[in-house]
Amino acid sequence: MNILLTGGAGFIGSHTCVEFINSGYDVVIADDLSNSKPKVIDRIEEITGKRPKFYKVDVSDRLAAEQIFKENKIDAVVHFAGYKAVGESCAKPLMYYRNNIDSALTMLELMEEYGVNSFIFSSSATVYGADADIPYVEGMPTGGCTNPYGWTKHMIEQILRDAAAANEKLSVILLRYFNPIGAHPSGKIGEDPSGIPNNLLPYITQVASGRLKELGVFGNDYDTHDGTGVRDYIHVCDLADGHVLAAEYASKHRGVEEINLGTGVGYSVLDVVNAFEQANDIKIPYVIKPRRDGDLPEYYADAKKAGEVLGWSAKRDLKTMCRDSWNWQKNNPNGYGD
Ligand code: WQD
Repeated sequence: MNILLTGGAGFIGSHTCVEFINSGYDVVIADDLSNSKPKVIDRIEEITGKRPKFYKVDVSDRLAAEQIFKENKIDAVVHFAGYKAVGESCAKPLMYYRNNIDSALTMLELMEEYGVNSFIFSSSATVYGADADIPYVEGMPTGGCTNPYGWTKHMIEQILRDAAAANEKLSVILLRYFNPIGAHPSGKIGEDPSGIPNNLLPYITQVASGRLKELGVFGNDYDTHDGTGVRDYIHVCDLADGHVLAAEYASKHRGVEEINLGTGVGYSVLDVVNAFEQANDIKIPYVIKPRRDGDLPEYYADAKKAGEVLGWSAKRDLKTMCRDSWNWQKNNPNGYGD
């Protein structure tokens, strides 16, 4: 099977590429490198011994993207490509709606034209919105998103449901990610945010490397076990495995499945700091800061459906996630930019 990964040079895309190649698939990556580096492709080859075919393409550019379908017999599309910074989406909502929705629509149109029937979508727990009960279960209503980034995920989910309702051959899996962290154990690929990181783990690893002075913990007065925010952190390699199983499932079924990819366990910011310190024997200095706008106190997945439908469950624990995140950062202090 030949899998097209849009945004395949990014953090989750690159790890997913490795898992697909290791599972015997042929992979084509389409990425405009707007938030990733070409070196990723070399690293994937170093890890797997196989070089994925690579197109430097903005997948909302229909003419350019069509070339991929003309030159390759694609069996399934895994659609990662999209802007993903929550704060930026509030400042530039039109850019987010245009880019994220356009690229999904373009892929769907090309799939229809070229008879490709499996679509795996990179969705997010953010679609459950601010008022959902925890744990988040797939059958819950979605919406009430707190930022344009989240709304683009929600809207694309709806577009996909409508497309599948009108095309009985189409198989769609909406993978709702919780908080992906960690890195490939080789230390050759990992998360490489530009500028000062927004997310917790990249921030912690940059404190560990001395690039940043201390971690700011955003609030310690939430109604959680230690007052700091609680999330469902998942190892990016577990997440990647989920995509391979989703593609296998999609090739045999029709219709739409929403599936959480999380561990089902919530950890607080201080739990993560402690786990990181223990896993790597490095002290992480931190200060308590005010709550960050838009943050929810606590959420985690109900992870049962992924087990029932895909036979998937997360295998790697928080310590492994912290060890692998640090292994990547330590070996690549400037990310791919060396
Ligand atoms: C985790 C916890 C923070 C940084 C975001 C997006 C979501 C998504 C994943 C995107 C929170 C706390 C963080 C720091 C801190 N999808 N924190 N100090 O906000 O759960 O999810 O990323 O592609 O849509 O919203 O992740 O890693 O930013 O925060 O105390 O310097 O760590 O308050 O409790 P979040 P995060």
